[in-house]
Formats: sequence, structure tokens, C-alpha cells
Amino acid sequence: MIPQTCRIERFFGEWESGAELLACASDVDGLTLGEVLALADGECLKLWEGLQLGYTETAGHPLLRDQIAQQYAVTGADGVTVCGGGAAEALFLLAHALLGPGDHAVVVWPAFESLHRIAPALGAEVSRVELDAADGWRLDLDAVRAALRPSTRALFVNFPHNPTGALPSRAEFEELVALAAQAGVTLVSDEVYRHLEFDGRDTLPAACDLDGSAVSVGVMSKAYALAGLRVGWMATRNRQVARAARQLKDYTTVCASAPAEILSLMALRAHEELVARSKKIILANLGHAEAFFARHAEVFEWQPPRAGMLAFPRLRPPAEVEEFIGALAREEGVLLLPGSVFDTDDNRFRIGLGRTSLPLALERTDAFLARRAGAAGV
Ligand SMILES: Cc1ncc(COP(=O)(O)O)c(C=O)c1O
Repeated sequence: MIPQTCRIERFFGEWESGAELLACASDVDGLTLGEVLALADGECLKLWEGLQLGYTETAGHPLLRDQIAQQYAVTGADGVTVCGGGAAEALFLLAHALLGPGDHAVVVWPAFESLHRIAPALGAEVSRVELDAADGWRLDLDAVRAALRPSTRALFVNFPHNPTGALPSRAEFEELVALAAQAGVTLVSDEVYRHLEFDGRDTLPAACDLDGSAVSVGVMSKAYALAGLRVGWMATRNRQVARAARQLKDYTTVCASAPAEILSLMALRAHEELVARSKKIILANLGHAEAFFARHAEVFEWQPPRAGMLAFPRLRPPAEVEEFIGALAREEGVLLLPGSVFDTDDNRFRIGLGRTSLPLALERTDAFLARRAGAAGV
């Protein structure tokens, strides 16, 4: 069965090409091919120059798997599976590996669509546990516990969080992982925004290191600003789940693209430099966003993010967010993402802090708001 329409992709399909300034993207301005090659060490350059464009190893290039495994404390390269369709593929495979008719899954809400729209198509029921907007997007662990049932097979979480920028404390995250382990539920921890914590001390341990049955999902698209490579991965010591996911992968991408694997290796070996580049862009934009929302406190409710590159402010009623977004896109070429793509109805929208064009987008939004205020005052 085909999963329910992916609303975010349909929204971008409809609006993206006409909008000059994407102020809601979930990535950082991408690196050029030349910039990645300039980062390469001697071994990587040799691999690149002699690269044969045949099939690659289905679990991923051994050097790439080793490099990815360096992000984990106890989960080794054996537990890493590279996915040629990004983290989106990893999440698709994991849902299929874990869920079937009559099964139940819990997802922390709001959620990126791969975390919850696939399960119902597999015949599984999904319960949502909402982050508390009024309390800094706090995760309610009691609510997670209460949502678990004997038929619960998977718990899907995503921290740092899309779209709110939420990040639990280390103690809360450890409790969440333990809670799933004690209940015998496989935790799928979408960690694609990991390493983009505003304070580096807030980086959470990977779920796959905290518990042998949990799965961590990572990607080249976010901290490394290389979404076009379409390289993601899953990391776990849970052999059963890894085996099932790899078996399914034989019917999806089979293996990753050979050039993308080598480019990923180059980028991962330049981890510090690339993460610093992404954080510099994000933190500069965070300053611009804070100032913008302080200027317009009567128009928006703003909860600052703690990590990642996304925030989920609220447009104060009676203004209506879909109308606001449509008019802003048409009049100023600035695109925001309505909360409705996350199935929320409280007048929120997603703003992205990863593009260097954000200050210009905010300036144009200032002008748009001034015009609206002027028209309302007439
Ligand atoms: C939380 C989350 N998980 C997974 C993905 C998928 O990443 P990719 O499209 O690079 O595979 C995204 C992309 O925006 C995301 O926000």
C-alpha cells in the first residue's frame, strides 16, 4: 500500500520553484563539489581519481562505514548500514523491518513524515506523543510510557528536532532510551541534526550506543551540508533489525552511488571544519531571527530552538498562517512552511536557519509586515 501523501514534498513541489528565498529549508547552503574535493586527504584523492563506477558493497564502502562508526562510542562499523537514498531510505527500511498489520508504534509529535506516515500503510497503528510548546517543547516521558502497549513494536523519536529545534537533556534522553529497552520496544532515533547543538556540551549520546536494540539514523544532508549526495545510514547493534533492513535494501537502492560514498568519506574526515561552517551560518541566522521576532512580538510567538536549524513559531490570530504564507511568497518571494504539513492546526510555521539568504528574507518580511500594518491602519 502506498503511504499517505508526503505533504512537505508536495508543498515544496508546488511553491519552491516560484520562491526566490527559501526561508524554511531544513539544510544549510550546500557545499560545491570543488569545496569537498579541496578537503580531501591523499587517500581519498587516490580513491576518487581511480574510482570505478560499478556497483559498490551493499552495506557501504568499508572505509565509509569505519568513518561513520567513529561517531559512535560502542557501535562499530559492523553495525553501520549505508543507505543510498539518504536518511529517508533508512527510515523507510526501518518502518518496514519493524512493523506489520496489528502492530503499534509511538511517535513523538510533531514529526517529520517518514517517522509516521509509512506505518499506517503497513497496517500498523500510530500513537502521537506531543512535545509541550508551552514548556520549551519539553518531552513528557510519562506520556511516552503511557502510550506504550503490548503490541508496540517501535518508538520513533527525532532529536535535535524538526520542526521545533527541541533537545531533551541527557538525563531525559537516557530515560527515554531505557524506557523503550525495558518495554522491549525498538527505539528508532532519528539523529540527522546531531552535532548542530548550539552549545556543543548539549550533544546527546547516540541511542545505538546507549542501548543494544536501539537504532540511530544519520545523514550527510544536515551538519555536513551535502544533501545532494543522498547518503544516509543506520547504526545499531540490533542484528535482527539490521539484517531485515539490509534485506529490504536489496529491493530499494541495493548500494549507494560510488562517487557519493567517496565524497561522503572526504566530508566526514573533515567533520570539525564542516560542522563549524554549518554552525557559523546557523548561529548568525539565529541572531537575525531573534531580533526579527523581538521586533514583531505582537505578530508572532517565538520559542527559540536549542539545536539544529529549524524553529516553529506561531502567527498570532486572527491572522491566518496559510493566507500569510501565500501572500508573503507571492508579494516578496519568501517561502515559509505551514504547520499543516506537520498535521498541526495552531497557526505555526517552520523557519529555517541554514541559508545565508535568511537576513534578506527577514528584511523583505519586515517590509511585508509594515505594508500590512499600514493597510490595516487605513
Ligand atoms: C528529521 C528528519 N529525518 C530525516 C530526514 C531525511 O533526510 P534526507 O532527505 O537527507 O534523507 C529529514 C530531512 O529533512 C529530517 O528532517
